[in-house]
Amino acid sequence: MYGTSLATAVIMVSGMAVSGTAAASQGSWLTVGEAAFAQLKLGGHKVTIRANQLAAGGAENLYLIEVRTRDLPSIAATLHRKLKHCGGFMFHASEAQARVALAGGALRAVPLSTRPSYVLANQALVTPILAQMDEQQIAATIIRLSGFVNRYYSSAHGAQAADWISTTWAALAAGHGNMAVTQFDHAGYAQRSVIATITGSDKASEVIVLGAHLDSISLSAERAQAPAPGADDDASGVAVLTEVLRVLVQADYRPRRTIKLIAYAAEEVGLRGSQDIAREFKRNKVDVVGVLQLDMTNFKGSSKDIYLISDYTDGEQNRFLEKLIAAYLPTVNIGSDRCGYACSDHAAWSALGYATSMPFESTLAQDNPSIHSKNDTYANSGAQAAHALKFARMAAAYAVELGTDSP
Ligand code: BES
Ligand code: ZN
Repeated sequence: MYGTSLATAVIMVSGMAVSGTAAASQGSWLTVGEAAFAQLKLGGHKVTIRANQLAAGGAENLYLIEVRTRDLPSIAATLHRKLKHCGGFMFHASEAQARVALAGGALRAVPLSTRPSYVLANQALVTPILAQMDEQQIAATIIRLSGFVNRYYSSAHGAQAADWISTTWAALAAGHGNMAVTQFDHAGYAQRSVIATITGSDKASEVIVLGAHLDSISLSAERAQAPAPGADDDASGVAVLTEVLRVLVQADYRPRRTIKLIAYAAEEVGLRGSQDIAREFKRNKVDVVGVLQLDMTNFKGSSKDIYLISDYTDGEQNRFLEKLIAAYLPTVNIGSDRCGYACSDHAAWSALGYATSMPFESTLAQDNPSIHSKNDTYANSGAQAAHALKFARMAAAYAVELGTDSP
């Protein structure tokens, strides 16, 4: 009943009935959950259903839809506005790629990579590294990144911000003999993702990914020009990665597995950067054993400190994170919540079967009200980086425990 079907119902929008089979090519494919799908039905765009499938666990129906490429900006705006957040649409460059994502969303249980032991066995390495981590370093990166007019994926500012991260990471990495920083090109826009790699020793083929998105967005009209400081969303995640990078270099840390820190381009427009990267890794059969996404780490909106997002993530790895926090950050309180849709780059990896986690700064109901506007500033995160520091320590502990693993 819920298998992939080839329905070609056309939902129309402006009220006019339009015939059942797809007419002229529309050119862009999205996968959406039920909430976004319902919203699009009410919206003003041509939407053709190409397939649908029940999500893993039967939680909801997922739809593969085709829309007109020229409608994409207004569809994104509608979803962002109407669903508060955007209801988890994922952009795909072809129908074939969209079908892979749809199937991955439905069959997420498939383990296709090595499972780590998830045993904590490296306290002697981890503890001194965590002690080196510094709130002021994180604050400085947030302030620097939010100083770009915006980091919109297709604006010149957005490309410059990505280059700044690349240059900054390369300068830090130079202090370590075995770390390389590269830029990852994406088709169709100038903003490049940035990847810092520490190659592992005896288990180099097994890869740990820590990520954050480097782009920002303002939902106001002229996006390429509009101020979008994105201090919390997601300079705070990139700042966490930068601090992890700094202390790993300072400790001259040599992992057994390969560790990759990734600042993704173009998250805000449908997880585009992370999907390109996850697909390339999958195509190259890279054995990614764990993915940690850091998206919004510095606004303390709720009573607990770190909320583990339970959907589009891996239960076993989430339990490992709880154990890690209890051991290394005993004063940090853990909660859990769910996004309800593919809310950030971890979902690009989980769609391909990789084990992901997404620790979040607050409950969803109490998240930072300033995101996606000119008000997402360091001041509006309370002019502090103490909250992000908890995430940075958790991320460093994650990198080193999985990077070294048990004997
Ligand atoms: N950081 C947000 C996701 C988020 C916001 C999670 C608030 C939890 C609470 C992310 O950058 C974002 O805006 N994502 C989009 C979806 C994406 C597929 C374009 C969103 O939520 O609208
Ligand atoms: Zn974000």
